[in-house]
Amino acid sequence: MSLAEERVAILGGTSGIGLATARLLALAGARVIVAGRDAAKLERALAELPEQCEGACVDATDRAALDRLAAALGRIDHLVLALAAGGGAGSFRDLDLGALRRVVEGKAWAFLEALQALLPTLRGDGSVTLVTAATARAAFPGTAGIAFNNGALNAIVPPLAVELAPLRVNAVCPGVIETPIFARWPEAERERFFARARAAPLGRPGRPEEVARAILFLIEDPYVTGATLEVDGGMRLTGAPRPAR
Ligand SMILES: NC(=O)c1ccc[n+]([C@@H]2O[C@H](COP(=O)([O-])OP(=O)(O)OC[C@H]3O[C@@H](n4cnc5c(N)ncnc54)[C@H](OP(=O)(O)O)[C@@H]3O)[C@@H](O)[C@H]2O)c1
Repeated sequence: MSLAEERVAILGGTSGIGLATARLLALAGARVIVAGRDAAKLERALAELPEQCEGACVDATDRAALDRLAAALGRIDHLVLALAAGGGAGSFRDLDLGALRRVVEGKAWAFLEALQALLPTLRGDGSVTLVTAATARAAFPGTAGIAFNNGALNAIVPPLAVELAPLRVNAVCPGVIETPIFARWPEAERERFFARARAAPLGRPGRPEEVARAILFLIEDPYVTGATLEVDGGMRLTGAPRPAR
């Protein structure tokens, strides 16, 4: 399947995994629309993307803004949801649940709003790819909040794949990927995650381009739906040490 002339919207397409995906899809001939909240970040992203790419400023936590985006977009063939407010890591006993609620509103809930708002614009046999997280399918201490946020998204993939067919619905679950998201993390928490990536079978954090290749695969393969694909260097397979009691 060729992506030539196909239109792909990437919410969270102005940085990290979303931006790498935009680059790869544009190289494959797609007409990519990248979206994010920050106008300056959007400008920088568009400056480095091929000229067939367009941009939109939208906050995916704002349903009215998403509805306006849907009306402005016209028909799209594929949707990639790669946005995140970030956060949610830390020991469950001390987790600030008010803060976690905002993190979930900034990702899982925003994904639901974005998907529902943009569904009418999607080609009937196009695709949706959710960027979730491999930690939702592992058992590392200090990741219950992240698992809650991303596990909810992984859980909707199979029922939506059946309900919305022939639209295909898949998820990609990144491990620890070097992107600007970690600049917003406390140093000690970031180091804990990077240490897990170094302890994984492939021994290093991933690159945004490596997740982008998996997203390209899920968009292109017309026989894959309801799938949840880890791109984590095998991190989920490694044992997590039990915390001291
Ligand atoms: N990097 C990792 O190790 C890792 C691991 C597992 C899962 N993930 C997931 O992968 C996805 C991409 O993460 P990343 O590492 O590439 O992060 P990133 O570099 O920080 O990019 C996040 C993108 O989301 C946009 N965004 C954030 N909130 C938004 C909102 N409310 N509405 C619209 N756009 C919004 C950001 O632009 P603005 O700030 O301008 O809005 C930016 O384009 C996220 O869902 C993240 O949870 C990442």
